[in-house]
Amino acid sequence: MKKLLTLVLALVLVMGLAANASALTIAFSQIGQESDWRTANTDDVCAAIEGHEGWELVYSDGQQKQENQIQALRNFITQGVDYILFTGVVTSGWDEVLTEVNEAEIPLILLDRIPDCADKIDYVAAFGGDFPLEGRRQVQWVGEYMKSIGRDTEDVNVAIMEGTTGADAQVGRTEGNLAAMEDYPFLKVVAQNTGNFTRAEGQALMESWLKSVDKIDVLIAQNDDMALGAIDAIKAAGKVPGKDIIIVGCDSVKAAFEAIVAGEMNATIECNPLYGQFLVPTIEALEAGETFDKTIVHPDEGVFDMDGGIQVEGTVSVKAADVIDERAY
Ligand code: AHR
Repeated sequence: MKKLLTLVLALVLVMGLAANASALTIAFSQIGQESDWRTANTDDVCAAIEGHEGWELVYSDGQQKQENQIQALRNFITQGVDYILFTGVVTSGWDEVLTEVNEAEIPLILLDRIPDCADKIDYVAAFGGDFPLEGRRQVQWVGEYMKSIGRDTEDVNVAIMEGTTGADAQVGRTEGNLAAMEDYPFLKVVAQNTGNFTRAEGQALMESWLKSVDKIDVLIAQNDDMALGAIDAIKAAGKVPGKDIIIVGCDSVKAAFEAIVAGEMNATIECNPLYGQFLVPTIEALEAGETFDKTIVHPDEGVFDMDGGIQVEGTVSVKAADVIDERAY
């Protein structure tokens, strides 16, 4: 009886090891957890991998440090994972480690922020935000809204709160912000600095601007978290956010919808964090032997605001209150 039990236990162990050995290991090097967008992105990607039969997730949080992400990528290589999902905290400085990933012949999938060496390395698929378009839409929303209320005949002072310096999302949105400004000469940039994509730094930067800048009519915040932090600073200074200062964010997280419905924020440009819907069919297809070209796929994205009906590039804004209940993140 004892021998039989030992045999059964050994069998269970061997079967368990075999099942584990045959699981597809998918490693994800994430940037950190700086914003509601990032949390939604992490949750969505991890759930998509973990929820798939036969797939196992190896997750690493870089805590906003490039060196942590480089170390994580090297660990993934040592572990011999089957796929690497990668988004980089900044755009530059990845050439060496991503070449090592290529040399280890681990299929690389780029997500969200695309490294500037993308042309020089191999990757099997890429999904990212169209950051210049998002930046242009922010300014177009402001310009068209100001026209709609007859404020295009006066100078309108704009503060641009940028994301993490050197991040693809900051570089692209700034490029888009500044390019679109040229179509609205009445918009004047009076302040421009980084709030690092976080609520706390958005609040601190707005506090300092309110003390040092004569007049701010509009805040363009390159993500919603910074806009929400700025709202706290504006209220603390005795001003009315959404009225004394028009506020446009980016991401379209639920908290921004709530602020818009409460009249404290005016618009948010969508940046979709839900990449699981692309990743699962892509990895399944790659496993079945399909290949993809190096095109970076951008999710469809919208614009949400107080009243709807503002025309920006490629879309018309939707009233946030009408769709807030359907918001997934
Ligand atoms: O890369 C996407 C950006 O990163 C999101 O706009 C921002 O909220 C996040 O931190």
